[in-house]
Amino acid sequence: MSNETMTVFSPRLAARFDALVEKYPVKRSALIPMLLYAQDEIGYLSDSVIAEVADRIGITELEVRNVATYYSMLRFKPVGKYNVQVCTNISCMLSGAYELYERFQQELGIGPKGVTADGAFSLEEVECIGACCWGPAIQVNYDFLDELTPELVPGILESYRRKARTEGTVSHA
Ligand code: FES
Repeated sequence: MSNETMTVFSPRLAARFDALVEKYPVKRSALIPMLLYAQDEIGYLSDSVIAEVADRIGITELEVRNVATYYSMLRFKPVGKYNVQVCTNISCMLSGAYELYERFQQELGIGPKGVTADGAFSLEEVECIGACCWGPAIQVNYDFLDELTPELVPGILESYRRKARTEGTVSHA
């Protein structure tokens, strides 16, 4: 993509992508890293993100979508600033994952796949996140928390609200 072309990304990320596609002998190898970086910056893989990534790599938007849908960490809809993912696979389920998931829903006042009105949190149930021996486990963006109980939920949410206030990114949190 030429420097004159309009980009949906920040100048910093656009420059990073320029470097990334040069780094790989096959441009397509940069696809997943690019999608992850794009999601970190934009929040999800919007149509315009997919279009630009496809253009930068030289493949079709359909090819980008076909690859991206294999990866559960890639999202096609907006989520909260903090996306709470509760593992409900067998090990976590036997350790109380559903009680935990229920408590998150109560505390946040949203249902599965919901987003709080202030945009601070979203909540979803996910497959194994690799902490089976320490369930129930959750992932909040890139943080992993394990051996949780429903009683710990208010404190966990408060710590992220504090973080959002400190960063000044969620006005009502
Ligand atoms: S079953 Fe929950 S982390 Fe593996």
